[in-house]
Amino acid sequence: MSTSYLRLLTGNKKWAEEKLKVNPDFFKNLTLGQNPEYLWIGCSDSRVPANEITNTNSGEIFVHRNIANIVLNTDMNLLSVLYYAVEVLKVKHVIVCGHYGCGGVLAAMENKDQGFVNNWLRNIKEVYSKHCKELDAITDFTARANRLVELNVIEQVHNLAKTKIVQQHWKSRELEIHGWVYGFDNGLIKDLKVSYSDIKNVEPVFRYDI
Ligand code: CO
Repeated sequence: MSTSYLRLLTGNKKWAEEKLKVNPDFFKNLTLGQNPEYLWIGCSDSRVPANEITNTNSGEIFVHRNIANIVLNTDMNLLSVLYYAVEVLKVKHVIVCGHYGCGGVLAAMENKDQGFVNNWLRNIKEVYSKHCKELDAITDFTARANRLVELNVIEQVHNLAKTKIVQQHWKSRELEIHGWVYGFDNGLIKDLKVSYSDIKNVEPVFRYDI
């Protein structure tokens, strides 16, 4: 049997020692609780770790990740994370961060049967379908995939604004939703500038009387 997992445990030991060297109270502080200002909704892809690419520490970002950073209104996991982040932790910003070269997005563009994952990828296919005029006009596959990655993030930002959780929060407190895309080519995050901070920009049919 492979023992490659052991390096994670030795790595953890080394990491904990280094943290204590820099700040002897590092772990003591973490036991006091969390007060993150941001909720991060990102892709499960192993190459997109929220804290690492934003140069932030433990305790700074509340994180939810799934394949292709989808905000699905029937996903109890996502909704629970969103509710807790917004209502209890009172985060000030919710960030949907996709990434170019996303395997989920690429798979959704193809017709191959992905087994159980079909059900999840269907959400991205719907985004493609909604924007097929723009996407079909892009002849280069990678360019088309990159644009779908961006459009998917934009749609998920809209999906957040359509939830009662977010709309309710806007009644009494400030909350900004952002759409970002991370690129492996240069390690940089692109702000898609689709931020929302009140109900005014939500399509009328999705607004709740609260
Ligand atoms: Co991905």
